[in-house]
Amino acid sequence: MTVMRSVVLGYGSYLPERIMTNAELAAKVDTSDEWIVQRTGIRQRHIAATGEFTSHLGTHAALAALANAKVEAHTIDLIVLATSTPDNTFPATAVQIQSALGIHHGAAFDVQAVCTGFIFALATADNFLKSGAFKRALVIGAETFSRILDWQDRGTCVLFGDGAGAVVLEAQPQPGTNKDRGILTTHLRSDGRHKDKLFVDGGPSSTQTVGHLRMEGREVFKHAVGMITDVIEDAFKATGTTADDIDWLVPHQANKRIIDASAKKLNIAPQKVVLTVDLHGNTSAASIPLALAVAAGDGRIKKNDLVMLEAMGGGFTWGSALLRW
Ligand code: ACO
Repeated sequence: MTVMRSVVLGYGSYLPERIMTNAELAAKVDTSDEWIVQRTGIRQRHIAATGEFTSHLGTHAALAALANAKVEAHTIDLIVLATSTPDNTFPATAVQIQSALGIHHGAAFDVQAVCTGFIFALATADNFLKSGAFKRALVIGAETFSRILDWQDRGTCVLFGDGAGAVVLEAQPQPGTNKDRGILTTHLRSDGRHKDKLFVDGGPSSTQTVGHLRMEGREVFKHAVGMITDVIEDAFKATGTTADDIDWLVPHQANKRIIDASAKKLNIAPQKVVLTVDLHGNTSAASIPLALAVAAGDGRIKKNDLVMLEAMGGGFTWGSALLRW
């Protein structure tokens, strides 16, 4: 039985030039490199320049993904951007990127699921491609979290950074087994009872201000591992695969301790886990495609490898995607 699968044709990423080290942060707030590394694994983050917006980061990543896929921008008929830090309240930042890429057909829109945004965007694009509505999609995660941080709050400002990553997906017929290339299954969850544990205290309708990120870190930590492992188990069940079949776990890069604990609970060997949080901190929706670009770029992720993506974030939202590269 032939089925349509969304196959990854290429990947790309972009990090702003400016690097802020833990030592530099320790000069601004009461923290230390040792504390940040021990609790999170983060060593540095990138910060967008004045005048550099989420759309600029996303456009750089999209161009890199198109070049890697060796396809022209005009062949893209769908752009789904995951972001919680749009250039403007509206229009969607996806249309800014669409315009910067010179694309004037098809559809472009934003998806907002905070740190799980890339998984939600990937699942959205996958369903449109599988249905035949579109043929070739750019799925982008791009964020400028530095713009919504309270730089006086050491509990949050040490954790986040700016960046973008993207993949090009194409609908291709496949035999319909778990040996197919492309996205094999996606699982999305949310539970708004946790909305006050990680949120931004502003918005167009409530305060008419942008607001700052607020988080109960311990509460987030407490729920993260269980939620992540639940949706990964859902992906195993849906495809008849197990942890042994996984070649790579590419998690949302929030915190090394959450990633290590999740992999351990699932019996996924540490050498199969792609870890880039040390290089760029938590870039929210951008972190999975950033990590994918590193591991595919250095030759770790190869054609036909089975790759598990997972994320958890504000809302709470959480999700997984299992794909064969
Ligand atoms: N530097 C030094 N000390 C700090 C800092 C800092 N940057 N931040 C907090 N502290 C202090 C606290 O004030 C507290 O001091 P006290 O004992 O004198 O009161 C002490 O460190 C311990 O604070 P906790 O908040 O209990 O520290 P914890 O071990 O929980 O680590 C952390 C905090 C890293 C935020 C942890 O809770 C965590 O990783 N949570 C998950 C949050 C996360 O990853 N969020 C990302 C978004 S969600 C997602 O992407 C999954």
